[in-house]
Amino acid sequence: MDRRSFLKTGSIAAAGIGLASNNLFAQDKKIRLGFIGVGLRGRNHVNLALRRDDVEVVAICDTQEEPLASCRKQFQKADKALPKEYTGGLDAYKKMIDKEKLDAVIIATPWQFHKQQSIDAMKAGLYVGCEVIAGATVEDHWEIVKTSEKTKMPYMTLENVIYRRDVMAILHMIRQKLFGELVHFEGGYQHDLREVLFNDGKQPYGGGYEYGPEKSMSEAQWRTQFNIDQDGDLYPTHGIGPIMKWADINHGNRFTNLVAFSSKARGLADYIEKNAPGHPNAKINYKNGDVTTTLMNTSNGETVLLSHDVHLPRPYSLGFRVQGTDGIWMDVNNGIYIEGQAAKGHAWDRADEWLKKYDHPLWAKYASDAAGAGHGGMDWYVFNAFIIAVRDKKQPPIDVYDSVTMSVITPLSTQSLAEGNKSLEFPDFTEGKWKTRKSTFALDDSGY
Ligand SMILES: NC(=O)c1ccc[n+]([C@@H]2O[C@H](COP(=O)([O-])OP(=O)(O)OC[C@H]3O[C@@H](n4cnc5c(N)ncnc54)[C@H](O)[C@@H]3O)[C@@H](O)[C@H]2O)c1
Repeated sequence: MDRRSFLKTGSIAAAGIGLASNNLFAQDKKIRLGFIGVGLRGRNHVNLALRRDDVEVVAICDTQEEPLASCRKQFQKADKALPKEYTGGLDAYKKMIDKEKLDAVIIATPWQFHKQQSIDAMKAGLYVGCEVIAGATVEDHWEIVKTSEKTKMPYMTLENVIYRRDVMAILHMIRQKLFGELVHFEGGYQHDLREVLFNDGKQPYGGGYEYGPEKSMSEAQWRTQFNIDQDGDLYPTHGIGPIMKWADINHGNRFTNLVAFSSKARGLADYIEKNAPGHPNAKINYKNGDVTTTLMNTSNGETVLLSHDVHLPRPYSLGFRVQGTDGIWMDVNNGIYIEGQAAKGHAWDRADEWLKKYDHPLWAKYASDAAGAGHGGMDWYVFNAFIIAVRDKKQPPIDVYDSVTMSVITPLSTQSLAEGNKSLEFPDFTEGKWKTRKSTFALDDSGY
């Protein structure tokens, strides 16, 4: 590792951080954390919280008994005191944030509830760590920004892929200029979700072809309805989050415009008809195209291609590509080519060897802490970064501007498609501050 250049990049950027306060938590004070939504994802975060001794999960809220019961078992297994439970309606979380003197909430509910729950929590003076997708409309995203600015309560999208080990090694290489001047990025959510979108109501993945609150379980209860009702990139953050950090979006760079294209929608109906001929769900007119492609420009002159591809048979791949004047990385073929350093001209080197050599110091330091956490360990890092921000009373490294910039691609791509692939201006949620803001993301190995 080129330690000197790492330190140089880190210290220059760190000089721009103006948000940290000296008002740290007392050493012995635990962060009082509440959970809104303890379904599959919420319980993954609960597990991470139960592994830490600087966090106390004081209360949990969910509208259904089954997830609450499963969550209770997590506390018993960890030999920790049971949290207070809030249930009994969509608004039960309001009582929790009123009564429990929390420092922060983790929100892991269906997408349609995120905006209001986040806004209510910020207004109650809480840090918000919200699962991916901030709001439904462009206006929702502005409301989140304005609430965070007014209440001065930070908001962080818990976008874990930003912390994936290869993604961070590539960031480390970009900061050392191995790719030269950056020119083009690709990424996306390319994941066969057919068994997530339909199940039998007894297990979260497959076993049947039902969706909706009555007949199915977990995400099929609510997520499938979006694929029925809405064309557009419904899940942009896993692809665009890493690209935003590589391209320094909101920190000297910004997305300027966007245009979306969608294929026909055949995958979901075809899947049901092949496996359960004559099932009524094979007759639904799914609006969400099988492959949605969104293109963006940045103010620094790079192009970005983002895919949403979740209805067809395919192995998982986020399809990352980073390309600059000195080289290219693609994750799908485990290939990298750095001109002048590659083993052979015009031939791919194996990327994993380069990624190991340029492992980000944050991963090098915390890999054993992260072992066993979800999604190959990256879930530990995103949760840890949120907890550090709460503990040190500072802005998280994925802040409110980053969060809404990632998520607003959903309503913008939907609008572009509805208006005949119209190119739309990308909102500047920072209102000009992007020109001078410095990134605080992963500048060193301090965990942030
Ligand atoms: N970052 C990732 O890798 C990742 C992975 C999976 C899910 N997610 C995200 O996490 C979120 C939750 O997904 P999930 O897989 O846990 O879904 P899920 O359906 O398993 O869990 C959602 C939970 O929210 C509860 N709920 C619904 N309305 C509520 C309300 N008003 N108040 C309190 N609880 C309520 C439900 O009863 C359910 O238990 C989504 O935003 C999803 O996109 C992210």
